[in-house]
Amino acid sequence: MTDPRNSDSAGSKGPDQATVQEHIFTSQYNRLALLDTVPEHVMILDTTLRDGEQTPGVALSIDDKIKIATALAELGVDVIEAGFPMTSAGERESMRKIADLKLGSRICGLARCNKADIDAALDCKLDYVHTFIATSDLHLTHKLRMTREQVKAKAIEAIEYAKSHGLTVEFSCEDGTRTDLAFLKEMHQAVQQAGVDKINLPDTVGTMSPPAMEELVKQLMTVTKVPLSIHCHNDFGLAVANSLAAVRQGAKQVHVCVNGMGERCGNASLEEIVMGLTAFYGTKTNVVMNRIGYTSKMVSRLTGIPIPDNKPIVGNHAFAHESGIHVHGVLKNPATYEAFSPELVGMRRNIVVGKHSGAHSIREKLSQYGMELTEPQLTDVLEKVKRLAESGKEVDDAELVALASHVLGQSVRSRHKITLKEFTVFTGLNITPTSTVVIELDGETRRSSNIGIGPVDAALNAIKAAVSDKISLVEYRLSAITGGSDALCEVSVKLQLNDEKALSIGKSIGTDIVLTSVDATIEAIDRLYSRKNA
Ligand code: KIV
Ligand code: ZN
Repeated sequence: MTDPRNSDSAGSKGPDQATVQEHIFTSQYNRLALLDTVPEHVMILDTTLRDGEQTPGVALSIDDKIKIATALAELGVDVIEAGFPMTSAGERESMRKIADLKLGSRICGLARCNKADIDAALDCKLDYVHTFIATSDLHLTHKLRMTREQVKAKAIEAIEYAKSHGLTVEFSCEDGTRTDLAFLKEMHQAVQQAGVDKINLPDTVGTMSPPAMEELVKQLMTVTKVPLSIHCHNDFGLAVANSLAAVRQGAKQVHVCVNGMGERCGNASLEEIVMGLTAFYGTKTNVVMNRIGYTSKMVSRLTGIPIPDNKPIVGNHAFAHESGIHVHGVLKNPATYEAFSPELVGMRRNIVVGKHSGAHSIREKLSQYGMELTEPQLTDVLEKVKRLAESGKEVDDAELVALASHVLGQSVRSRHKITLKEFTVFTGLNITPTSTVVIELDGETRRSSNIGIGPVDAALNAIKAAVSDKISLVEYRLSAITGGSDALCEVSVKLQLNDEKALSIGKSIGTDIVLTSVDATIEAIDRLYSRKNA
């Protein structure tokens, strides 16, 4: 996990459009396919806290919802669909608290077309409601048991009621993409007459293809004078492609979820939509792109839904290069094997060493740890890496540094600069985790206490304070090696000393997460100081 506090990009507004385009290396043929109907600017409605929370197994606490809403506002989304107020008292409490924060984004609540649902939204002090009713014959017959006329009347009544209370109203024909076209157009006309502000088109079951979406949106644009929005599900893996197709025909808002969360196979992913709009159409959004990586990791941590390694834009492998040919190319000019620069979205390039590595990768990787090897030494390390990789062993940074240290004739783990003498951590319910450490650094005994957001954070903060030089945590990785509550875990920690570029790595394995983290940190600091004094 990259510590966002060390990312110089997180928090800034990010580069301007011209600079952004300099960092995007997409095919020139995209320009040939541009249409006049593509808007210059598209609004982003994020529904991570509503459709995203409908991801099986996800239930966020009020605190976590507030953290996510705050991060989404800092990311720059235009509208946050923060929940479905009618669901529960807890849902209403979280929505009220989010509305009270007066974040930079509009806060919206989902409501069925009835007074009780709209009153629940009003009760949360919201000024924006997203109201919906199903319109496909399939839903009318088997779910609602209503006629088309009844559905239309309900939608009009709800919109008029919400408008009479001063709300901004967005309306969706649920299962719109399987609704009879004449009736869908009739609904769009009727809700506009009722005063709706925006109409959203849901591809509720993700059953559209991009050409079909283009055709449908083209048809709907003939009768839709308010901004048209698009909401796509990913049942065929086409949610992003279908949303981009809708924008190509003039849709001005896209519904998204961070990391593509949402019902069943999820919704269109925020990261992919923002980058797709920027890269393929040159369309602007208000999203601060270099906050994408951080927001994605935060949402993954709080929801417990891991980001697949091969997830576009934010996956661990999105900017990882192993093959010698690719690494050689990327080091000469990143555009050779990257569609855009990782920094644009707050990510980092990662050179992975393994079976397909070449000497360039090893040299580049070791230089990140301040290690310089001669050509014969590099060849020696490369051979050892390949032998290890071919036997099925993953060669991570810590192992590579250990191999290189061995070839250089250095002790792999000298442990003479820093020793941990004492260590305690207090944690529990409703107390701030606090840690005290006593270390010996170059023969001098130092003691320090510090707090943190968890016991590991407190312990690492105490060690950093005792060392007193400015040590930044660049990456912290924790993985379980075995299962069960007494599982073995592996922690690897990457640190940086003061403003030096070179990193240092420490790795440890144990049963106690806190102690293992402390051990890995001490090892990384030991390497930092051994190098500093070499
Ligand atoms: O997918 C869907 O149809 C929805 C509606 C509530 C708009 O999420
Ligand atoms: Zn949905």
